[in-house]
Amino acid sequence: MDQVFIFDTTLRDGEQVPGCKLNTKEKLELALKLEALGVDIIEAGFPVSSPGDFKSVEEISKIMTRAVVCGLSRAVQKDIEVAGEALRHARRSRIHTGIGTSDFHIRSKFNSTRDEILQRAVQAVTWARNYTDDVEFYAEDAGRTDNEYLARVCEAVIKAGATVLNIPDTTGYCLPQQYGDKMSYLINHVPNIDKAILSCHCHNDLGLATANSIAGAIAGARQIECTINGLGERAGNTSLEEVVMVLKQHRQLGLYTNIQTQMLNPISREVADTMRVPVQPNKAIVGGNAFSHSSGIHQDGFLKDSLTYEIINPDEVGADGSRIVLTARSGRSALAHRFQKLGYSFNRNDIDVLYESFLQVADRKKEVEEEDLHQLAKAYRPEPVIA
Ligand code: KIV
Ligand code: ZN
Repeated sequence: MDQVFIFDTTLRDGEQVPGCKLNTKEKLELALKLEALGVDIIEAGFPVSSPGDFKSVEEISKIMTRAVVCGLSRAVQKDIEVAGEALRHARRSRIHTGIGTSDFHIRSKFNSTRDEILQRAVQAVTWARNYTDDVEFYAEDAGRTDNEYLARVCEAVIKAGATVLNIPDTTGYCLPQQYGDKMSYLINHVPNIDKAILSCHCHNDLGLATANSIAGAIAGARQIECTINGLGERAGNTSLEEVVMVLKQHRQLGLYTNIQTQMLNPISREVADTMRVPVQPNKAIVGGNAFSHSSGIHQDGFLKDSLTYEIINPDEVGADGSRIVLTARSGRSALAHRFQKLGYSFNRNDIDVLYESFLQVADRKKEVEEEDLHQLAKAYRPEPVIA
């Protein structure tokens, strides 16, 4: 089995979500939880961006005992100096520097040429190496960068001392096959690729961030950059909980992570509360409905054998447990199950009769709750038998 390093960027790319800005205390608390979760690298912030973020990176550097602490910078000397300074207390530090490599960036953003950008990339890595041996280079918009040029940039920055190559699909443009092929291309065309780790950094503009990151890992990338709840610029980043559980579920891929999966739901709630961004109910792994069963067909199968409709045990990801939700689409077995859980012992005939009154309530309400069931039982039998 090969390890895939988990690079968490909740405190940097995740924090770029409008309204999600965190103060130093909030960042420190989350950093401790992320380290306990088992992430390998924590991108703590963008030190040059504000004095507050500098302080956050500096303070996080002091308290991390195992995780590598990473600070972002542009390919600008001042940024790199400030990142180096913010990280000086870290037991293990990484500078994440880079520049846009697609023609969109080279022409429109920098009004420059491919050769000049390549030189700036090399220069940035050389500066960063003055502060740490662990330098990650990002080729921004690599998803839309010509592969041949991208390979030239990768070769040059590895020569300059980059130890990790981040291949961001910054705009979330790639298809999984394309993104995986890009990784394979680099593995086959960058002569010194064995001296660096390839990293996936995928955005979710087309809802493909998780699929693309997994395709990248299958092709040979050994680091995935992700955030709790998939937070991040625009439609977000790759969701940490999703990639971790995909690799865990599909053991045949031969890839594992260090993540303590039973902490996934608690940390998801913590991040949602601190950043004030609720998790959508149908979100995989951590959404409120991720382990809820509401239609009769599913409920019947689930009650006979949970594996029929659940591929993950809720305990494995720290969820509260599976829920049988009663709605107008529910069937008799779910109703019987819920009555039984409340202590009522009704036989099949009782349930047949109760089911008719249940449907009347269910058609009026979105969800039939415990109190409704007590009332139905009372109306059916004024003095219900409690088992
Ligand atoms: O999406 C992106 O390209 C980034 C880089 C700064 C790594 O977030
Ligand atoms: Zn990003």
